[in-house]
Amino acid sequence: MSILNNRRIVLGVCGSIAAYKVAELARRLTQGGAQVDVIMTEAAQQLVGKATFQALTGRPVFDDMWSLPEHHMVEHIALAVQAHMVVIAPATANTLARIATGMCDDLLTTTVLATTAPVLCVPAMNVQMYAAAATQENIAILRGRGFSVLEPEEGPMAEPMVGKGRLPEPETIEGEIRSLLGKHHGALRGRRVVVTAGATREPIDPIRFISNRSSGMMGYALATAARDMGADVTLISGPTSLKTPSAMTFVPVETALEMRDAVEAACSQAHILIMNAAVADFRPESVHDQKIKKNGTDGLTLNLVRNPDILGELAYRHNLFKVGFAAETENMLENAQDKLERKELHMIVANHAVATMAQSMIQVTLIDRNGATTSLPQQSKQQTAIAILDAIVTRLSPYIST
Ligand code: CTP
Repeated sequence: MSILNNRRIVLGVCGSIAAYKVAELARRLTQGGAQVDVIMTEAAQQLVGKATFQALTGRPVFDDMWSLPEHHMVEHIALAVQAHMVVIAPATANTLARIATGMCDDLLTTTVLATTAPVLCVPAMNVQMYAAAATQENIAILRGRGFSVLEPEEGPMAEPMVGKGRLPEPETIEGEIRSLLGKHHGALRGRRVVVTAGATREPIDPIRFISNRSSGMMGYALATAARDMGADVTLISGPTSLKTPSAMTFVPVETALEMRDAVEAACSQAHILIMNAAVADFRPESVHDQKIKKNGTDGLTLNLVRNPDILGELAYRHNLFKVGFAAETENMLENAQDKLERKELHMIVANHAVATMAQSMIQVTLIDRNGATTSLPQQSKQQTAIAILDAIVTRLSPYIST
């Protein structure tokens, strides 16, 4: 089930031109199952209408402490008390300053002062206003008090100016919200999870390489689901056409050797490794400096050498919960069982390579170290990722200390 499901999120919208982008965020959170209570400052209402947020969240929009619906009158801090999270997006320099000084002269600042829920501020403003010492000091104060602050992005602004101050995309903010909710309520909070994804590329010459059909979709779904369950995620990925998920450490690699180094480094502190990448087993013995020319020959022989078995090399790490994938074209369960034992894994996910690579749906069978076999239904890679992580959570404790 989505980490957003039945969560009460207060979304404070301030008067920055980026306020219109937050309508999409409100829609995404609502669709994800959250109950979104929008509070608009006076300035925000000059830029976007209340009706937009009312329609997208299916709930009344709050703007004034003194005109709350009757049942809210008795306790005007009800929103603060019931919230699982407060998000201020866009957060203007003015609102950040007022929160930093503890002011509570409108409904949004009162709610922030009165809540014990995590607060995420997403500043968006003019480049100079963001860089101003006062704003930076206010942000530092808020961070020091445990607020989360998502850095604005660099790029063209509404006014003819380029720089840091842009509101991140709604999808990025949503990822941050999911991660923070996960860190408070998720089953993997406090865990460091490394996920590998995609195919490696083994260069032949400057423009050619050996690779495979892995799209990276399953690995990205696993990394995102682990983030939503509260884990600190490192996603190590071969080249893919997928969007980099937010609120995690992303390590792009190309070759199996680069992936090995990245996995080794990330796993030194990790609790769980999910090795979903389709690592090329072989690489050309040498890489030509220049493009290989035909030069009138009829054929070409490439000498290939074995790549290291990244998972196999970590067999000695008994305090790392290791999950492998076995994408097979025949004898699926026997081959998967063999890999589980050979690489000393805690669990292996067996699937049919041809039927699942680059597809959005997948059917997998989980085999654990005790021989228990669980066949999951054919479902989306996102649903499968959640089911795999649930299975990991229930098997974790004998191997990993809390
Ligand atoms: N794997 C790895 N390093 C490699 C090859 C594979 O870490 N050089 C990992 C994969 O990420 C996967 C698991 O090992 O989690 C099984 O990968 P697979 O390619 O199915 O098996 P191989 O070990 O390559 O064995 P085979 O060639 O017999 O299929």
